[in-house]
Amino acid sequence: MRVGVLGCGNVGAPLIQLVRDHGDDIAARTGVRLEVAKVAVRSTSKERPVALADDVLTHDAAAVVEDPGIDVVVEVIGGIEPARSLILTALGNGKPVVTANKELLANVGADLFAAAEAAGVDLLFEAAVAGGIPLIRPLRESLVGERITRILGIVNGTTNYILTRMTEEGTSYQEALAEAQSLGYAERDPTADVEGFDAGAKAAIIASIAFGARVVAGDVYHEGISSITPADIAFAKRLGYVVKLLAIAEQQSGEIGVRVHPAMVPLAHPLASVRDSFNAVFVEGEAVGSLMFYGRGAGGSPTASAVLGDLIDAAGNLRKGSSASLGSLAKARIKPIDDVRSEYYLNLEVADRPGVLAAVAGVFGTHGVSIRAMEQEGLGDEARLIFITHVAREADVQATLHGLRELDAVDRVGTLLRVIE
Ligand SMILES: NC(=O)c1ccc[n+]([C@@H]2O[C@H](COP(=O)([O-])OP(=O)(O)OC[C@H]3O[C@@H](n4cnc5c(N)ncnc54)[C@H](OP(=O)(O)O)[C@@H]3O)[C@@H](O)[C@H]2O)c1
Repeated sequence: MRVGVLGCGNVGAPLIQLVRDHGDDIAARTGVRLEVAKVAVRSTSKERPVALADDVLTHDAAAVVEDPGIDVVVEVIGGIEPARSLILTALGNGKPVVTANKELLANVGADLFAAAEAAGVDLLFEAAVAGGIPLIRPLRESLVGERITRILGIVNGTTNYILTRMTEEGTSYQEALAEAQSLGYAERDPTADVEGFDAGAKAAIIASIAFGARVVAGDVYHEGISSITPADIAFAKRLGYVVKLLAIAEQQSGEIGVRVHPAMVPLAHPLASVRDSFNAVFVEGEAVGSLMFYGRGAGGSPTASAVLGDLIDAAGNLRKGSSASLGSLAKARIKPIDDVRSEYYLNLEVADRPGVLAAVAGVFGTHGVSIRAMEQEGLGDEARLIFITHVAREADVQATLHGLRELDAVDRVGTLLRVIE
């Protein structure tokens, strides 16, 4: 099988190396012999960690997807264009495609799946969510008969690293971010990671596959971690929780809830022990119960390993004349964030004088938000109040926050965190 690889960067280069190193084993185990016949890059003069013959390396990706001598295409360029057009052309020419491109799938995935379906070839994307961790294939194949109720994922290694440093060393968000940047875990502009965009794209893909409906990045409500303070993390710990940035996809009564936000995870929950830049995805199904997938969610080699698995599958299917179609996905009914129900954590700084607690509790009561637990801590003339609510509706909690900000005795309304059951 002659493979055309579009991109030879962090993922493309180790993929080509893996195909070379493991080619004989792959052929012996699967009967598929892979040959990297073309590699398209932006600059052919750049030094590469893998040696590539002159007739293999090209700057003309469009020619690769048109080349009748190429059987299967791997897209590891990233971004929307030209990746989208290249993939559509490859599929239109009957070539299966493997991609690691979460941004593309989370925005125009349904069009690409429809094109693959029409062409009767594979479009596989295991590496697009949680890098080296097998998740898409288990959801599509092993769990296809399962009714999945909820998926909770730590799917962004950068933010998990930052929150781990804040939790274990008490460092501030800014210090932990600087450390992540110096180690190469965070970009110089970390917005996509720390504000939840990257996790949001992955949440959209996870929800689409788990619930068989079209969910796009724009459907995902997201909040990041930049306003989390060491005090929030310390309170969470005292109350028996750890703070994690979670991608959440759930299905109830035909509606899909999909969101990304920091959340308090009980210390006894398996996700609480996922540290540093590791990822994990916790799947809850009606018959199967709970499952957790854990490992390296990014990095060249782990991601290339997932791409290689798809590549062998796609090449094998092409030879058999079959394909693993996703079919056409109908637009999902997305549950508005206002209707989401959860327990909440909230901390307030208030004047330390009689009657304040009653006034604060009154605002919760007015909006029908019931308090499960409360702690008070003296701060000189002020006091800090920490609340955990019973399960409440998001819109009622937001109205409560608004009411609290209007109270004279409330000096500061701190972070609001959802509590995971
Ligand atoms: N890195 C990870 O840990 C990771 C994890 C999961 C998923 N992914 C996904 O994998 C994909 C690739 O990521 P990466 O980290 O490998 O990116 P990267 O290191 O930036 O590599 C991109 C490659 O694409 C080539 N390229 C860019 N524009 C091109 C064009 N118009 N025609 C031909 N080649 C072009 C670049 O060529 P030059 O080398 O000449 O510049 C480079 O080789 C992305 O979709 C990313 O989201 C990455």
